[in-house]
Amino acid sequence: MLRSIPLFKDLSDTDIAVISDLAIDKNVAKGNVVLTEGEIGDSLYAIVSGRVKVFIGDEDGREIILKILGPGDFFGEMSLIDSQPRSASVSTLENSVFKVLSHSAFEASVERAPRIATLVMQALAKRLRDADRKISTLALMDVYGRVANTLLELAITNNGKLVVGEKLSQQDIANMVGASREMVNRILKDLSDRGYISVEAKTITIHDEKLPPSF
Ligand code: CMP
Repeated sequence: MLRSIPLFKDLSDTDIAVISDLAIDKNVAKGNVVLTEGEIGDSLYAIVSGRVKVFIGDEDGREIILKILGPGDFFGEMSLIDSQPRSASVSTLENSVFKVLSHSAFEASVERAPRIATLVMQALAKRLRDADRKISTLALMDVYGRVANTLLELAITNNGKLVVGEKLSQQDIANMVGASREMVNRILKDLSDRGYISVEAKTITIHDEKLPPSF
């Protein structure tokens, strides 16, 4: 199972066996919180199967989704590296299976395979790039542009069609772009009426990659 996670794919058989002994399996059912923003924690979670959302919330229950992560991705590395409280909350969108490494287990892994440290740095650099892009879209685009941009960022090709890879509710999209569900509903309807997308059972198909900038 560990080998399916890019972070551990370069480990030798012996090292994989050692890390397997150090890592704890954790199964979390859909809809549960795995990490809570502000809590102390120093373990890293690698996703074997399932899907999670990384988000920041406020007391009124509003949230902004920072990222959706899936198999092969990991989270929880920030507190492990800087010993600060968790920077965001993470909850499961599907039943999920994780390999959890404590601080000491992570250090042992890096000692045996220093490339793990490089892979974590690469992932952090990618997260910063994504975050920079998100800041610029939040600051520079209107809501219409942010919704269109988010759909394109999540798009994958499936059977020759461009579809949004995640089955997202309108509330999820709203939480990703910092808008109300009602506004997202209006925008999706407009994009659909104009033939740019079609929506069926939460699957959004994109018919024209050049989504229009506004109503
Ligand atoms: P940590 O701060 O330990 O706990 C919350 C985790 O969410 C954090 O580590 C990262 O693994 C993850 N995380 C925080 N911000 C982002 C982001 N912008 N993109 C992807 N993952 C993130």
